[in-house]
Amino acid sequence: MGRIAYVNGRFVRHADACVHIEDRGLQLADAVYEVWALFDGRLADAEGHFARLSRSLGEVRIAEPMSRTALTIVLREVVRRNRVRDGILYLQVSRGVAPRDHAFPKTPVPPGVIITVKAVDRAAAEAKAAKGVGAVTTPETRWGRCDIKSVGLLPNVLARQVAAEAGAAEAWFVDDLGFVTEGAASNAWIVDGEGRLRTRDTNANILRGITRFTLIDVIREAGLTLDERPFTPADAREAKEAFITGAGALVTPVVSIDGRPIGDGAPGPVATRLRSLYIERAKATAV
Ligand code: PDD
Repeated sequence: MGRIAYVNGRFVRHADACVHIEDRGLQLADAVYEVWALFDGRLADAEGHFARLSRSLGEVRIAEPMSRTALTIVLREVVRRNRVRDGILYLQVSRGVAPRDHAFPKTPVPPGVIITVKAVDRAAAEAKAAKGVGAVTTPETRWGRCDIKSVGLLPNVLARQVAAEAGAAEAWFVDDLGFVTEGAASNAWIVDGEGRLRTRDTNANILRGITRFTLIDVIREAGLTLDERPFTPADAREAKEAFITGAGALVTPVVSIDGRPIGDGAPGPVATRLRSLYIERAKATAV
């Protein structure tokens, strides 16, 4: 069986799935998206991602394409038809199809919906996490509404390419004040000299990561200290450990910044423990 996607009300072969050339998501990045990790075919942190989707849609005034119940059924059906157990589920909602004009269509059109799923090799992901990944720093070039999960990801694309060309897995944006905001597709964390977990606060211009949010709960339960405070690349270089969080990365140790090892250059005990605690929690609460 080949891959199946959902596009505007229909389940179609992935190879044949397409949208209209005047879909505003395509021409204007006038669309938002969500990504869920899948464990055993079930959606991790489901509620958080649904809530953020509604918020993103509301902030840009795109109508909810269907009820939460209907959307859940369709998302699950895509997973079922693709027989994916562990993977990544992608949902995109655009403002719909209309003749190109920056302002909203005068007569509202139905939102454009795309859903795809892909399998993830968890054993390979575990092996990658066990080795740790590199991150590079790059100037913050994004717009002022990074709290909206917009598909306008060109700065993130360019930053990830900087990382890829440096042999690193992630790029950390650094703002004008010299502080790390977040990664191109993940939130950024360090474990400081006192063993405190540091990550940027959500008043900053970052995406309010759902993995980040769940992990904060896990951190509290584990009796660790959280410090939602900005850190600089220099703080990261001197940190005991670093890691990233996201629906794709889950919790992945970062072992070098700009080519310089963090700590002894291997995943540390805190990040390693938090990865397994997070996965345990995500699996237990997936729906
Ligand atoms: N990215 N920051 C940015 C800029 C992101 O794009 C993401 C997620 C995160 C982490 O958010 P969450 O924990 O809710 O996944 C932080 C997804 C995975 C992506 O673009 O594929």
